[in-house]
Amino acid sequence: MQGKFITLEGIDGAGKTTQLAWLTEILKNHGIDFVVTREPGGTALGEKLRLLLLDRSISMHPETEALLMFAARREHLDQVILPALAEGQWVVSDRFTDASFAYQGGGRKLEYSKLAVLEQWVQADLQPDLTLYFDIPVEIAQQRINQIKHADRFEQEQFDFFQRVRQAYLQRVKQFPDRMYKIDSSQSLVEVKSAVEKALRVLLKHD
Ligand code: TYD
Repeated sequence: MQGKFITLEGIDGAGKTTQLAWLTEILKNHGIDFVVTREPGGTALGEKLRLLLLDRSISMHPETEALLMFAARREHLDQVILPALAEGQWVVSDRFTDASFAYQGGGRKLEYSKLAVLEQWVQADLQPDLTLYFDIPVEIAQQRINQIKHADRFEQEQFDFFQRVRQAYLQRVKQFPDRMYKIDSSQSLVEVKSAVEKALRVLLKHD
C-alpha cells in the first residue's frame, strides 16, 4: 500500500519547524511509519545544492535558482520520496514544489508557466496528499527572522519579497483547496497545534 505524502509550507518565520515536531508526534501516536525530510535537500547532492542556494555570498539568476531547486527535487524524489511511499511509509517534507511557485514565482517574479514545465518534467502528476500552509503576516514573520543571527540568502530579502511570496502561497491555497490546508500561524501555539491535528484527521481516517 502506498504511503501518504505530507508537505509543510510557509514564508520564512511562519513557525513551520515547530509544527513539524508536533505533526511527527501525532503520526508516532498513531503508529505510522514515516520519514521526515526537507527541501532543498534530503539527499547528499540535495544538501550540497542547499548550501549553494542559501549562501548569501553567492548570487544567481532566478532561473538558475529555480533549476537548482528542481534538480535537488529530482534527486529527492528518486532517492527518498518515491521509494518510501512505495514501501508504504509516509513522507513528511519540510517544503516542496509549492515553495518554488511561491519563492521563485511570486518572490523572484519568474513566469509560472516555466515552473509548471519543470514541475511536469520532474514529478509528472505526483502531488502531496496534504499540504499544510502556515500563514502569517509578513510583519510578524520578519520580527522572528530578525532575531536570527545569520540570515540566509532568502531570509535577508525585504518586506515586498515576502509579501509576494505570501500572496503566491495564498493564491495556491485557493487553486488547490482539496490538497492545501491553510493554518493561521499567528494564533496561539495551542490553537495552531489543534489546527494541525484537525488537518491530519482526514488522512488518518483513511489509513
Ligand atoms: P527553510 O525551509 O526555511 O529552512 P530553515 O528553516 O532551515 O531556514 O529554508 C529553505 C529556503 O529555501 C526558504 O527560504 C525557501 C527557499 N526555497 C525556495 O526558494 N524554493 C524552493 O523550491 C524551496 C524548496 C525552498
